[in-house]
Amino acid sequence: MTSLTIRNARILHQSGEWIDGDLSVRNGKIESVGGDIASAADVPEIDAEGLTLLPGAIDPQVHFREPGLEHKEDLSTASHACAKGGITSFLEMPNTRPLTITQAALDDKLNRGAQKCLVNYGFFIGATAEALPDLIEAKPTCGIKIFMGSMKGDLLVDDEAYLDKIFAKGDRLIAVHAENQDRIRQRRQQFAGISDPAVHSQIQDSQAALDATQLALKLSKKYRRRLHILHLSTAEEAELLRQDKPEWVTAEVTPQHLLLNTEAYSTLGTKAQMNPPLRSPRDNEVLWQALLDGVLDFIATDHAPHTLEEKAQPYPNSPSGMPGVETSLPLLLTQAKEGRCTIAQVANWMSTAPAKAYKMVGKGAIAPGLDADLVLVDMETYRPVLTSELATKCGWTPFEGWNLTGWPVTTIVGGKIAYDRGRFNEEVRGTALQFDAP
Ligand code: DOR
Repeated sequence: MTSLTIRNARILHQSGEWIDGDLSVRNGKIESVGGDIASAADVPEIDAEGLTLLPGAIDPQVHFREPGLEHKEDLSTASHACAKGGITSFLEMPNTRPLTITQAALDDKLNRGAQKCLVNYGFFIGATAEALPDLIEAKPTCGIKIFMGSMKGDLLVDDEAYLDKIFAKGDRLIAVHAENQDRIRQRRQQFAGISDPAVHSQIQDSQAALDATQLALKLSKKYRRRLHILHLSTAEEAELLRQDKPEWVTAEVTPQHLLLNTEAYSTLGTKAQMNPPLRSPRDNEVLWQALLDGVLDFIATDHAPHTLEEKAQPYPNSPSGMPGVETSLPLLLTQAKEGRCTIAQVANWMSTAPAKAYKMVGKGAIAPGLDADLVLVDMETYRPVLTSELATKCGWTPFEGWNLTGWPVTTIVGGKIAYDRGRFNEEVRGTALQFDAP
């Protein structure tokens, strides 16, 4: 039986066509799209007059801090923030405590997700220098995360010989944080004693990112290994991929690398500090063009919350990272509204393309038979980003005060309303993402 009907929406269909009409849901999946669907007793209805219906956004790179770092964020607060931001599925990184480097740690996260998450969840397994068998066998996972740089402890894999071994063995997706740790170490010494956080972009400079991306590409080509480049941040890396991007390689960019740059340090201080760092206004432009041209495939937030107290420490003791899941969709839809791209492109970058890259089963578009993960957005109203309205535990955003449109009004996960006009449905739970991949 139909379980939900959405009426009078402007619907972005999988075909790329816009359809004005209704959508019905049955057993957690989209049942029909378009036309007038007859009313039935006991079937809840949403009147979506004036609203735009998009596939639920997928954030393919987040740090949600559970287990072990729950003072910054946890799977409940983070998934509330996702629902509020129109994100119905996320892929989470392994730098929690314990690290997600074994099947047991992955199972623990999946159990926590089932209990706490309002939206759908998937987790990376982390590579260490010691080649653990779980790296190629643990399931279900979206892929292997390698920190080539910008990481302390066991998750740092910066030695080419070790990297080669990881690329050589198995065939599941490898996602890299590409920064050259040797260069960062050397430049940290060179710039030691400077507490202006703007120096962060000089220490972890464009060359450090380019070196590591080149190395990852080399190894990927050597073994024809599926490679995804996380949060690509520089014009140089984008130009490299424009010249030389094998068909089995994908790359993503964050909203902050598109919309913020080194000028942000003067107003945001350490809140602008992240890895890889913010770059120049020219990098913003080149990254935008690369995204528009398909050199970059999709968008991820790298949501990496730290408390205000932690961020208030003087550089370099201040941790890197900023939250993003509540602002990414309105930030990009505002760009669409202002003519920089189309709404359909945003839906591709924030849902269809990541679903395809990670081979997520049933996700990423609106068509009968696909999962009913949906977001209704309001493309007419502008509202400022306000810290007081955030669901993330960290309680701050680098986009405070930005006047945005495209705010999510209602977020639907597996056919159920998880968020509606400021209210959460605490009964809703997402499910574990399935990957049609090795
Ligand atoms: O800025 C960052 N923060 N980049 C990362 O890669 C890690 C993240 C974190 O976990 O805080």
